[in-house]
Amino acid sequence: IPPQDFEGKNILITAGPTVEAIDPVRFLSNHSTGKMGFAIAEAAKARGGNVTLVSGPTTLKPIEGVEIISINSALEMYESVMEHFDGQDIIIKSAAVSDYRPETTANNKIKKHDGPLQINLVRNPDILKELGAKKGNKKLIGFAAETDNVIEYAKAKIEKKNLDLIVANDLTEEGAGFGSDTNVVYLIDNKQQVTKVEKASKLEVAHRILDKIKEV
Ligand code: C5P
Repeated sequence: IPPQDFEGKNILITAGPTVEAIDPVRFLSNHSTGKMGFAIAEAAKARGGNVTLVSGPTTLKPIEGVEIISINSALEMYESVMEHFDGQDIIIKSAAVSDYRPETTANNKIKKHDGPLQINLVRNPDILKELGAKKGNKKLIGFAAETDNVIEYAKAKIEKKNLDLIVANDLTEEGAGFGSDTNVVYLIDNKQQVTKVEKASKLEVAHRILDKIKEV
């Protein structure tokens, strides 16, 4: 049995992609599989935490003892996270939230025609940024998946979104990022201190993230 060092802590975790409907058949989304967020939920549960997981569509198995709330769109994730905000001690936002959604969702399947089709996209709310504005003494952890200037962008994000810790992912690094069973991350705390977690299983990386959360 691992140490019960999160016993009595209420922990809200988001995972997976969001999907933004274009019409009843098509959607906009991304390559997130939810593996990192589910691994954090599993690790936090094993260490005694009271875990609530808000997840976009994934093919992953439910985790025993973890309440999973399934959502599709960023707006649904927003509502669910805000509804569960009170009473949390730690909020970990590992979901890959779509930054944009189609301005309208067609009621019927859009028919093809000659020439290009235009779909207007509008911004989704930045859930993490709104949480940062009202976090009080909750610990707030964000993720940053980048293909370049990883640490620099992550450092800017920690300030902008008022986070305690950011987990930065270099998507170009071997064994890191979407779909992989392993990850390589940089943990950057609110004093801009950077710790690298070398390539390891997502469950192992999850435990290192939790270790760091105790220090911030
Ligand atoms: O700014 P960027 O999208 O790179 O920030 C990533 C972090 O912000 C992740 O923790 C992600 O879950 C969160 N996020 C969010 N709402 C959005 C976009 C990102 O909560 N609309």
